[in-house]
Amino acid sequence: MELVTLQEILANTKKEHYAVGAFNFNGYEDAAGIAQGAAAARSPVILMASQGACQYIGLYETAGLIKGIAKKLSVPICLHLDHATDLDFIREAVRAGFSSVMIDASAKPYEENIHDSKTIATFAKDYHCSVEAELGKVGGKEDNIVVEDRTASFTDPAQVPRFVEETGIDALAIAFGSVHGFYKSEPKLDFDRLAAVLKLTACPIVLHGGTGIPIADIQKCISMGLAKVNVGTELKAAFSNTIRKMCAELPKDEFDPRKFLKPVKAACAAIVQEKLEAFGSAGKA
Ligand code: 13P
Repeated sequence: MELVTLQEILANTKKEHYAVGAFNFNGYEDAAGIAQGAAAARSPVILMASQGACQYIGLYETAGLIKGIAKKLSVPICLHLDHATDLDFIREAVRAGFSSVMIDASAKPYEENIHDSKTIATFAKDYHCSVEAELGKVGGKEDNIVVEDRTASFTDPAQVPRFVEETGIDALAIAFGSVHGFYKSEPKLDFDRLAAVLKLTACPIVLHGGTGIPIADIQKCISMGLAKVNVGTELKAAFSNTIRKMCAELPKDEFDPRKFLKPVKAACAAIVQEKLEAFGSAGKA
């Protein structure tokens, strides 16, 4: 299949009470594992590469890899640039064939955030590409972006309608208690804030920092109308832990890289399948 946009992949989420999982990858093995997990769950899926991951793999290489993976799959795949702050880099990702991009101008004042998000949404309209933006600041560390807990600020629901209308974005990431990376203490989501946002806009809402949030809490958000759930750290940990395990288990004279890396695919696929089932999107493809 050809890559699809967020608009397409999230179209039925609210009506049918499910969310689509969005998973970060950093190379071939985790990307292929995510696709494998989605195929096993018969679920649509969003593969996300951060600006840093794209710089590591190469922007056009990332697009080529995922387009290749999507071609032989029968479930819809969206290739999404995650948390990009550099407008020129985002434009290049759109030209490279990403079917979705995130402009993260959440560190900027409200008016500048609107300006940058609108600039990208306007640019992407001429391509088959959707746009996500962020209002409020999700705390923690995501790739090169670090938001100290004290500066993380929850989304003000009153700011949402104008932001969505003026920017013309396709999905909105909000801050309501989740953080990127592993949690230092039990996460406490502000469900009332999410409800207030959902009441004020029809724009699909995104939860960042999905690693470590109890599944029951995520399911509660989905039942309220959450459309997209981002998970990154859990897959990174599975990737690294699997390599460590294989290094310990394989004979010292084993040098075939595939023996070390193939189990990474399976580890990522298992996590993704389980998440998609929990998010209610299994069987929706
Ligand atoms: P986690 O790494 O905390 O799962 O968050 C991922 C994310 O939100 C990517 O944008």
